[in-house]
Amino acid sequence: MTSVPMITLNNGHEIPQLGFGVFQIAPVETREATLDALEVGYRHIDTAEMYGNEKEVGQAVAESGIPREDVFVTSKLNNGFHARDAALRAFDGTLEALGFDYLDLFLIHWPMPAVGDFVETWKAMQEMHASGRVRSIGVSNFQPAHIRRLLDETDIIPAVNQIEVHPYLTQNDVRAFDFDNGIANEAWSPLAQGMVLLDPVITGIAGRIGKTPAQVTLRWHIQRGDIVFPKSVTHSRIVENFEIFDFALETADVEAITALNRSERTGPNPDEFNWIPKS
Ligand SMILES: NC(=O)c1ccc[n+]([C@@H]2O[C@H](COP(=O)([O-])OP(=O)(O)OC[C@H]3O[C@@H](n4cnc5c(N)ncnc54)[C@H](OP(=O)(O)O)[C@@H]3O)[C@@H](O)[C@H]2O)c1
Repeated sequence: MTSVPMITLNNGHEIPQLGFGVFQIAPVETREATLDALEVGYRHIDTAEMYGNEKEVGQAVAESGIPREDVFVTSKLNNGFHARDAALRAFDGTLEALGFDYLDLFLIHWPMPAVGDFVETWKAMQEMHASGRVRSIGVSNFQPAHIRRLLDETDIIPAVNQIEVHPYLTQNDVRAFDFDNGIANEAWSPLAQGMVLLDPVITGIAGRIGKTPAQVTLRWHIQRGDIVFPKSVTHSRIVENFEIFDFALETADVEAITALNRSERTGPNPDEFNWIPKS
């Protein structure tokens, strides 16, 4: 079976560099898709309270028969829960929905700079960590200025920063800041939700080396050192996205893909995004 590299986080815990994302998978489809991914060999699942499918992820992990400690599960604090007590309650709700007694990684989903205070929220994350019920805590969609405040005003350096990264949004500045501070980078929407898969540079490399555009794109992320968790509800793609460790891109091909950067987001700009979902 393909061996997925492990990345060691700044607290010593390890995370598989390739996982399975469940954003925009309907709750009724999530159990089956996650079970499929676990059968293919994925041992890292990325969910969030915002996705509405934590319960089904937990069901799949339980039904898979794989020991809980062999599957790395991430979830995220939703935007409406940034005050301390609300954050602590939301974490309890996440564990309850998943049916777990601990979580591997919990992230602040968005910094929400115009709503509340993400520093206070991070202090609540530190309390969760101190309780022993979450092994690692991190952030998502944090810009360097947001992380700088955490470094200056709190005790725990985030283990990861999960940000949008793909060939049209290479984020080399944010990634360099994270790496310089010992924070692992997670690349969300690694395929730009499919947008980059028709790019002639990527299809050209794929044709030349006999791989698919998705495999070339995911391999580019892996060789840059980022953690990825592509989403798919299609069995053949779940398999395809897992088969990226039996080849390597030449440096020139990595550079050609990096040069496709257009600073083009598929999702919101974290400096401006302050959306709270209706409960
Ligand atoms: N922290 C955040 O704010 C944030 C935001 C967005 C996403 N995320 C995380 O990142 C994960 C991945 O991002 P994403 O779901 O937005 O997008 P993505 O993984 O870049 O792309 C998913 C799309 O690509 C298609 N696809 C997957 N594999 C393919 C392949 N081999 N060939 C062709 N098409 C393929 C899927 O189609 P089918 O499903 O129809 O096969 C789906 O439409 C999410 O699931 C979530 O865990 C986090």
